[in-house]
Amino acid sequence: MLKSNQLGTKGAKQMLRNAKWIAPERDTGEVCPLFYKEFSAKNNIKSAVLHVTATGVYEAELNGKRVSDFILAPGLTVYKKRLQYQAYDVTNDIKADNTLCITLGKGWYRGRINEKNPPVFNTPGAVIASLKIEFEDGETEELITDGSWRFKESKIRFSDFFDGEIYDASFVDNEPKGVIELNIDKSPLIPQEGTYVTEHERLKCQRFFVTNNAEQVLDFGQNMAGYIEVSLKNTKPGDVISLSFGEVLDNDGNFYNKNYRTARSQYKYICRGGGYEVYKPHFTFYGFRYVRIDEFPGKADPCCFTAVALYSDMEQTGNIRCGDERLNKLFSNVIWGQRSNFIDVPMDCPQRDERQPWTGDAQIFCKTAAYNYDVKAFFKKWINDLVADQFKNGAIPDKSPNSYTIGRLETGSAGWGDAITVVPWTMYLMYGEKDILEASFDAMKRWVDYITGDTMDQYLWTCPQEQKRLWGHHYGDWLAPDTPDGGFKGATDDDVVASAFYAYSTSILIKSGNVLGKDVSEYEELYRNIVSAYKARFPDPKTQTDHVLALYFNLTNDRKGVTESLKDKIIADGTRLQTGFIGTPYLLYALSDNGQTELAYDLLLSERLPSWLYEVKHGATTVWEHWDAIMPDGRISTSSNGMDSFNHYAFGSVANWIYSVAAGIRPDESKPGFEHIIIEPKPDKRLGHLEATLKTKYGIIRSKWEYTDNVIQYEFDIPTSATIIINGTAREVGSGQVLLTGAAEPQEHNAK
Ligand code: BGC
Repeated sequence: MLKSNQLGTKGAKQMLRNAKWIAPERDTGEVCPLFYKEFSAKNNIKSAVLHVTATGVYEAELNGKRVSDFILAPGLTVYKKRLQYQAYDVTNDIKADNTLCITLGKGWYRGRINEKNPPVFNTPGAVIASLKIEFEDGETEELITDGSWRFKESKIRFSDFFDGEIYDASFVDNEPKGVIELNIDKSPLIPQEGTYVTEHERLKCQRFFVTNNAEQVLDFGQNMAGYIEVSLKNTKPGDVISLSFGEVLDNDGNFYNKNYRTARSQYKYICRGGGYEVYKPHFTFYGFRYVRIDEFPGKADPCCFTAVALYSDMEQTGNIRCGDERLNKLFSNVIWGQRSNFIDVPMDCPQRDERQPWTGDAQIFCKTAAYNYDVKAFFKKWINDLVADQFKNGAIPDKSPNSYTIGRLETGSAGWGDAITVVPWTMYLMYGEKDILEASFDAMKRWVDYITGDTMDQYLWTCPQEQKRLWGHHYGDWLAPDTPDGGFKGATDDDVVASAFYAYSTSILIKSGNVLGKDVSEYEELYRNIVSAYKARFPDPKTQTDHVLALYFNLTNDRKGVTESLKDKIIADGTRLQTGFIGTPYLLYALSDNGQTELAYDLLLSERLPSWLYEVKHGATTVWEHWDAIMPDGRISTSSNGMDSFNHYAFGSVANWIYSVAAGIRPDESKPGFEHIIIEPKPDKRLGHLEATLKTKYGIIRSKWEYTDNVIQYEFDIPTSATIIINGTAREVGSGQVLLTGAAEPQEHNAK
């Protein structure tokens, strides 16, 4: 079946122009309404296309068959300005007599996830659809939603992203009820832009056990986002299956999900009775590895349960394998972190009562995301939302879409709002397409202009002391272990973080302007001034993140001295990282770009808290929000006040260092999208061997190195052309396979 983005969009908006928004004539409370219309069609159908969307999430069915595999359609956008509709090819499903059904859930639009956004949240639940049939003889017919439709109460008695779903298969509503036509603004309607959210991996239960608390628990072996499909035989009407979800077990091996906070994440299925029954939720998802069986008719059988992963339909493009199984596990955790949090938008986490598209998290992770998966369409849609969400004063919200529009200060936070420059630029580098820069260039400019006007000191981004508190102006080096008061904010001063990002965003604006042929001379001057002001104000880095920002963003005249000082600091910190959301993505680069690759590997391979492999050692199957989410004694950390997600991808951004430095595959800014490739691997004997592959539109790039005694064997597959740099010696190569041999102790060559 064709997907809407393959169907073309011409005339689609026109179709929905005739259709009416319809809602139940009376409120159905928590119950999901099912709208339906019966119609007949003549023979000789040439094509039939269904256009549909909703203020909520919907599922359409034609003659009892689900239309499309898009789960949670129409996805999340800035609803007030942009609401996607889908176009489905249903040519082969039309019969002489037909019933078209559309069931409506609350979803992002009207669920608890959006309750702080009253103007949208209070919009009534409604659907709009048009089915256009074209016959071989050239005639056309259009079936639209209007007052002639009817609705019934569906078997979905309750459904919400946070609070789960209750489904009563024994419920039948025999009383057709009327609908009302609503005058909801149609101007936000836009054709589908993103990728569909679909079902992916299906995992069987790996272990079924009874805990010390006498609870029956299923372990699927992998933390993930999705739902459980249950298959049952010989049921009786009214039999109940009720489940609870959790990500980890507590230190006593008991089921634990306090970190879901107020998200009830219910799962309740009431059987129809007799025969064979299969159920999976319709309008919700859960973040889980463990499932507690709260109710089950008779003896529970683990074979009845399948965990189904749900995420945006992206093709995996990147892969990393090496001789250290702990690193391979870390890579798998990063991949699962992305899978679990890329559900139509980049979320922070999939389990607790949050699941929000935080701009900072997306900014931090987007490069890794684009190595791992083809996220071009995914981020293109998201960037359009970010642009649509920009405040009038140019500030970019901390979350988008779904920014709270009421009672919210129109301010932007460093590292979060900068998503408007970093994400489009990263997508341009990784995919080489200018349209993403074109779509965001004005917004980038307005963001930089906003910063220029939001400071106490010209050419820096500074704010008064009282705004530096937790939840003040900036989030700072969020979740850095060097936090002075045990809170969420690291020790790095907000003014340092904000001014460094001011420089970074301005530099991206200039580069984007150059690609698009715009005059950016004004910003070139601004950039020079920011850099001088920064160097003058912050000459003396103290925290690890201070150093990292100065080195990575090129904000120091004393690269050698700052590098030495960072090295000393890391060693004084016990060869441990002390960075949060701001410093962590660049920490290893700041080292390896400046002749300290071995120390970068020391951090990467460390198992001491805080480190990536500490999590692996403590059984992580995804990436945690806090470095110490599980403490060394095995207890779940309680210091995080409910902010203890075990599936937060931000710190997984380390994977792009493995792709682009350890394996050395990186895009060439002058020929982006890997039209020309730069390969500069930096091996380390401790790994034995490393192989990274990356599927690009030109073909698959492969970079492999392997140690044999004192010799390193390099192998590269080059689909186009590449500059291969080994120990500072560059070679230009064309497409094909390249084999090289090098000395086992490569010299550091690129200290600037
Ligand atoms: C989220 C983060 C987010 C942060 C901003 C948290 O609640 O989970 O990932 O970026 O808030 O401070």
